[in-house]
Amino acid sequence: MTTPLPLEPIETASRDELAALQLERLKWSLNHAYENSPVYRQKFDEAGVHPSELKSLADLARFPFTTKKDLRDSYPFGMFAVPQDQISRIHASSGTTGKPTVVAYTARDIDTWANLVARSVRAAGARRGDKVHISYGYGLFTGGLGAHYGAERAGLTVIPFGGGQTEKQVQLIQDFRPDIIMVTPSYMLAIADEMERQGIDPATCSLRIGIFGAEPWTNDMRAAIEQRMGITAVDIYGLSEVMGPGVASECAETKDGPTIWEDHFYPEIINPETGEVLPDGEFGELVFTSLTKEALPIVRYRTRDLTRLLPGTARTMRRMEKITGRSDDMLIIRGVNVFPTQIEELLLKQHALAPHYQIILTKEGPMDVMTLNCEPCPETAPDYGALDAARKQLAYDIKSLIGVTAQVNVLEVNGIERSVGKARRVIDKRPK
Ligand code: DLL
Repeated sequence: MTTPLPLEPIETASRDELAALQLERLKWSLNHAYENSPVYRQKFDEAGVHPSELKSLADLARFPFTTKKDLRDSYPFGMFAVPQDQISRIHASSGTTGKPTVVAYTARDIDTWANLVARSVRAAGARRGDKVHISYGYGLFTGGLGAHYGAERAGLTVIPFGGGQTEKQVQLIQDFRPDIIMVTPSYMLAIADEMERQGIDPATCSLRIGIFGAEPWTNDMRAAIEQRMGITAVDIYGLSEVMGPGVASECAETKDGPTIWEDHFYPEIINPETGEVLPDGEFGELVFTSLTKEALPIVRYRTRDLTRLLPGTARTMRRMEKITGRSDDMLIIRGVNVFPTQIEELLLKQHALAPHYQIILTKEGPMDVMTLNCEPCPETAPDYGALDAARKQLAYDIKSLIGVTAQVNVLEVNGIERSVGKARRVIDKRPK
């Protein structure tokens, strides 16, 4: 067994050193955006601010926010800040409606991204000689290629599988014996189910580490996956507008929320209603400003992800608490705010039920109706008594702990649609 891969000096620098680097880079980034992207120039001018006015990190609060709408309005390439011949890669996120959000990278941006995913993979506990099986989708989605470049940069052996072909994923995991898997947590469960279907105990497979992200998942889900797969599961966070995977990632030694790679992305938490910057420790919407990105500098990007900033533990950089959900995912059921992750937490307490679920929203007259579809664990499927007890207990817990009434249905095994990437947790059938 080899030793863990070494850290970069900035990961353990003093807070003062980090802040000085951030300020220097922030000045460069705001200036770069203003000078080279007409969209930013117009936004800054309209807000009456100029990059030269930034004297401290706190001055960033005077600059305007960027939203997905800014990217959509300038579709496809309007916000890019370098000439076309300097762009080496384009990615896009599909979004649920309308045009995709298009992002770009210079060769140096790709290099930075590879370094940060490599840093994330090391933080997860990778060791020299490890093989990494990548099941994030390749293509315009940033997951596959982002993970790929990073794992390669960390000096590991990459198996670029991509999403889908679950049976074959299992076969190659059995035959190639990877040490690490990078995949969405929901697709990990689908792979584990397929292993069991083939008569393989997932805990006996070669995997030691799972690097899971691209969708919200709870600590209860972490515990369930770790136990079932016999691995250490860490959380990797990112979004295409800011870079892709590896904006923040969890350290295996603490597993206490993703450490934000603050030397490249400056985080803020704001009150989503007022836009006011909140102190560390308070919950709100996560906002990022890129410090080194060339092709698409991003200034105060409103992620819609809800979390809070916490002090660094394993590293100098601050952490973010595991994401509760996106403001877009918040369901308002008869006036009560509910996140799918709250339902997930309660579902995972019912051991007769499998960790797959989907929430269906409908209307009965003026009233919202929430239906929770879940399914039995294969071994409890024949035990109607146990399933009915679990179903009733879950409905009771949802009512008493979250405050909403849910119709809980236990479907047959494999009754919930499996996704090969991000799971679709909510189907809203309410008339708009
Ligand atoms: O999902 C990038 C990524 C790929 C991250 C692979 C991690 C692993 P987008 O498709 O642009 O990019 O979606 C970004 O996904 O704003 C969050 O709402 C959600 N998300 C990403 N990572 C996490 C996570 C990629 N670890 C959006 N926990 C983000 C919770 C996450 N939500």
